[in-house]
Amino acid sequence: MAKVRKIFACNNCGATSPKWMGKCTSCEEWNTYVEEIVVKESKTQAEKKQVWRTNDKKPKLKPVKIPEIVAGDTPRSVTPDGEFNRVLGGGIVAGSLVLIGGQPGIGKSTLMLQIALTMPINILYVSGEESQEQIKMRADRIGIQNENCYILTETNVSKILTHAQNLEPQLIVIDSIQTLASPHIESTPGSVSQIRECAGDLQRFAKETNIPIFIIGHITKEGSIAGPKLLEHIVDAVLQFEGDRHYTYRILRTIKNRFGSTSEMGIYEMQADGLREVSNPSELLLSQNDENLSGSTVAAMLEGMRPMLIETQALVSTAVYGTPQRSATGFDLRRLNMLLAVLEKRCGFQFGANDVFLNIAGGIKVDDPAIDLSIVAALISSLEDVSVEGDICFAGEIGLSGEIRTVNRIDQRIQEAARLGFKQIFISKYNLKGLDLENYDIEVTPIGKVEELYRTLFDEF
Ligand code: TYD
Ligand code: MG
Repeated sequence: MAKVRKIFACNNCGATSPKWMGKCTSCEEWNTYVEEIVVKESKTQAEKKQVWRTNDKKPKLKPVKIPEIVAGDTPRSVTPDGEFNRVLGGGIVAGSLVLIGGQPGIGKSTLMLQIALTMPINILYVSGEESQEQIKMRADRIGIQNENCYILTETNVSKILTHAQNLEPQLIVIDSIQTLASPHIESTPGSVSQIRECAGDLQRFAKETNIPIFIIGHITKEGSIAGPKLLEHIVDAVLQFEGDRHYTYRILRTIKNRFGSTSEMGIYEMQADGLREVSNPSELLLSQNDENLSGSTVAAMLEGMRPMLIETQALVSTAVYGTPQRSATGFDLRRLNMLLAVLEKRCGFQFGANDVFLNIAGGIKVDDPAIDLSIVAALISSLEDVSVEGDICFAGEIGLSGEIRTVNRIDQRIQEAARLGFKQIFISKYNLKGLDLENYDIEVTPIGKVEELYRTLFDEF
């Protein structure tokens, strides 16, 4: 007889409890507990179904002394997609379980199908979301034909793994974990216990067969759907696919990677026929117009390990309503408020009666503090209505007393700016240590305070 049990599970970390709790005792999040019905089949029933399970007869592994372990280079299969390899730390590691998270519609299925279609190995692409015809249509859209890519539309994890065992592919893609269901528990697909059970099965399969598995997982804007958060503990690497749906740029970021660095990222552009790698992001993020407008400046920032130049735009206008508006796209609003406070207190600029709007080009979200200097220059430029030359760029963090602070990898930033033909870069004077300015084909202007920036940039007008 199947046993029916009711439990409560935390949406965030997957902890379970027999009764509902307002605050999870494990991850300390509030209001994350949801009720779940768990039906456990009796053993004989499960055995009758002859489903894939871990094999208990396998020889038990013995503890080994660390010097006795022979560690070869982790074998990686390199994909034809340079950005994807970079994010994974050099290619796909055998037996690894990788989660690709992202909001619905951002392009996760497209990315994985494209990888599956371009690799010259046997690949099993399992979809619980789309029919075979729909996937075929998508493949036609991407425009690549591949004999080695198998499509399976199935949601039962045991059946999927049985198919995988028979087919012996070299890579499996699961689209998506929220649609999978294990026959051993009866709660609905997408629930905490189903996701945990299915991910556990997939992980055991990957480790035992050495076949790498990619799992796609949806998250909402708040990241609130069970799954990706919970899965982060189980999988070897977590990649996040993000971007603004109204723009075509997509960023693939590493959140966790057991086999590589987490500061890598890849940039793609969504086109009518699939995703295109963007190997030179700066050229896309800088505006093409030659006209110099006030409030528009360029920051030399770093995304992951990659330097790129990005346009920042500010608009300061007289407030029409009593309370001035502050709005920032792609930048932290609290940080904008802080920068405005610094400008008021340390340099005497009056923003109090003005609306301030800030926009970072390309729908990209920036959290590199080196963009501060460029934003401050854009704010002053718009307030004073004086434009900044288009061949000047900035890299520096602003401190609370108006000082320009050092930023990391300044050398890379300067080189990228020089490579793109910029004539002048403003940096913190504290960043000069160890820099040989003779090396660069660009004028480097070190400054110590925001006032100096104002004097150097705008005073001559
Ligand atoms: P999709 O991969 O289905 O997103 P996800 O799996 O993350 O939910 O991609 C969704 C969007 O991508 C959809 O709005 C259409 C667009 N798209 C293109 O612009 N070009 C293409 O070649 C493809 C396949 C999709
Ligand atoms: Mg999809």
